[in-house]
Amino acid sequence: MRDPSIRRSVALFRAFLREQSDPEHCYGLLARDAAGQVERYIPVEGRTVVDIGGGSGHFTEEFRRRGAHCYLFEPDATELHAGGRRPRGAVLADGYLLPLADGVADVCFASNVLEHVADPQTFLSEMVRVTRPDGLIYVSFTNWLSPWGGHETAPWHYLGADRASARYRRRTGRAPKHTLGVNLFAVHIGPTLRHVRARDDVQLVAARSRYWPFLAGAVTRVPGLREFATWNLLLILRRCPS
Ligand SMILES: C[S@@+](CC[C@H](N)C(=O)[O-])C[C@H]1O[C@@H](n2cnc3c(N)ncnc32)[C@H](O)[C@@H]1O
Repeated sequence: MRDPSIRRSVALFRAFLREQSDPEHCYGLLARDAAGQVERYIPVEGRTVVDIGGGSGHFTEEFRRRGAHCYLFEPDATELHAGGRRPRGAVLADGYLLPLADGVADVCFASNVLEHVADPQTFLSEMVRVTRPDGLIYVSFTNWLSPWGGHETAPWHYLGADRASARYRRRTGRAPKHTLGVNLFAVHIGPTLRHVRARDDVQLVAARSRYWPFLAGAVTRVPGLREFATWNLLLILRRCPS
């Protein structure tokens, strides 16, 4: 499916609506889509790809299907084995401190992880460290002011995280999976863009909405509006030669 296009965005959205009942379809489609985005910049066949915070391995499997040597690093065993999956060759490891030498990865990939770490800048620095000079870094995240920023408590997070959590508990009888300040953090688009532009170890190749069907790049250039309309920011970075 062409990216961006209405057909693609609708297909992704419909798969997302069935995420709970059919996670294989949802994450399989998302993985094919994300791998296609990476391959616009670098063919992955024969390359080393590291998938950080890769959950139960759909993205890793897709990169391997395309001929990459892909390695999955995931700190949470529950996420790793979600849905009874047993991803081959996965390493239980934290993205802040990867058990990898400097510059080993042709592609360093983190899909929807940045909003789950307390210190996104340190997480990004570790991604840069393990990427070879001229290698590619793919990082995407749902920003806090996105309509999906509160994750399962959205869109009630606009009224405050505590109220959104309390409402979720009342409605479902259980605690939400994510708690602001514990395993979900308010990451914003403007400060993140300023941070990556100020770094001297990466070049910003692209900043765009990951899922939007049109104006995917333009929407990220409008301060204020971008915090609400981007939905999910995709950054493509290139590691500068040292
Ligand atoms: C929303 S899931 C994303 C999973 C997958 N990458 C995707 O796009 O579907 C967030 C993942 O980030 C992982 N994570 C949280 N903190 C992390 C850290 N410090 N280092 C690496 N991964 C982390 C979680 O365990 C979880 O698997």
